[in-house]
Amino acid sequence: DPVQPPPLNKCHPITDLDCLTYDCCPPYSSKDISEIRDFVPPGPGAGLRQRRPARELMQDPAYLEKFGNAIDKMKNLPKDDPWNLIQQANIHCAYCDDAYEQTGYPDVRLQVHFGWNFLPWHRFYIYFWERILGKLIGDETFALPYWNWDDEAEMTMPRAFWDPKDSFLYDALRNQRHREALLDYRYTLGDDNPTKDQYADVVAHNRNQLRHIFSEDYLVQPDLFMGMPVRAGDGGVFKRSGALELLHNVIHNWTGEVISPYLDMGNFRTAARDPIFFGHHANIDRLWDIYRNKRGKVEFRDRDWLDASFLFYDENRRLVKCKVRQGLLPKQLGYEYKYEDPTWENVGD
Ligand code: C2O
Repeated sequence: DPVQPPPLNKCHPITDLDCLTYDCCPPYSSKDISEIRDFVPPGPGAGLRQRRPARELMQDPAYLEKFGNAIDKMKNLPKDDPWNLIQQANIHCAYCDDAYEQTGYPDVRLQVHFGWNFLPWHRFYIYFWERILGKLIGDETFALPYWNWDDEAEMTMPRAFWDPKDSFLYDALRNQRHREALLDYRYTLGDDNPTKDQYADVVAHNRNQLRHIFSEDYLVQPDLFMGMPVRAGDGGVFKRSGALELLHNVIHNWTGEVISPYLDMGNFRTAARDPIFFGHHANIDRLWDIYRNKRGKVEFRDRDWLDASFLFYDENRRLVKCKVRQGLLPKQLGYEYKYEDPTWENVGD
């Protein structure tokens, strides 16, 4: 059977990587719960939001100002408002740190990482974050930037997310050693930064890894790319992760820090407090879209995937139940990626 939305009243404080207890259960009211409705995708006819590369947006002061206003508004909402920035980050914490019991399986916790629900869940999650931001500033075309760390020119932390320090995109809880460093997809905790004479090699390796996970074998076996089946009653098991999820973990670990005290991006509990999370996940989402286009058809026909469902607060402050099958195409969800040919596609290095 497909994974069901969590029973919202069966949410528990989690124990963090630091062995601290933290309560990220969202402030749902019983009224919200009694009024859960089915999500209705905006459909291809609605206006399209276009997500553009972070680098490009940084040259667009009007956009930056809007983005900044929206984030400020989100931060300044009352603490228990479901749209508040910390509450939004808590949604990620709750779904990703095993806070919820699974409907029908009280002894099993709900986990949206580690398997085939990873990409669709995060697609919905950032979709609502984007629309809520747009709503806060009254702009229905507002779209997230994506940090295309798959492009060799962007294999560093995007400048706008570092400077200036008072920027709304800045987060002090990042790994300061990586401020100017080249991202190596083989990064593991504590590795030194590549030296200049290793750059070409690191870039070539990164590009190869991308070509590998988009290769024919991966295109015909979506569980390699997307992750393995996770059905109702399954708990989170790391080894079901697909190749894109594993690569995505490296970027989290590199941006935050995965050693106590764990920094924002280095920890499911806090990752979504850092705005770079959404730039990162927009890119993950875009890479899924590229995969789909190359593959030419939907990844799984299994109803346990298509009917897996989750709950989110929408941009009208209503709780909606979204099914994976409703989020299979960005266009159905009213957004698209400004297309750039992936630079790693060209063999020859
Ligand atoms: Cu739910 Cu990038 O993690």
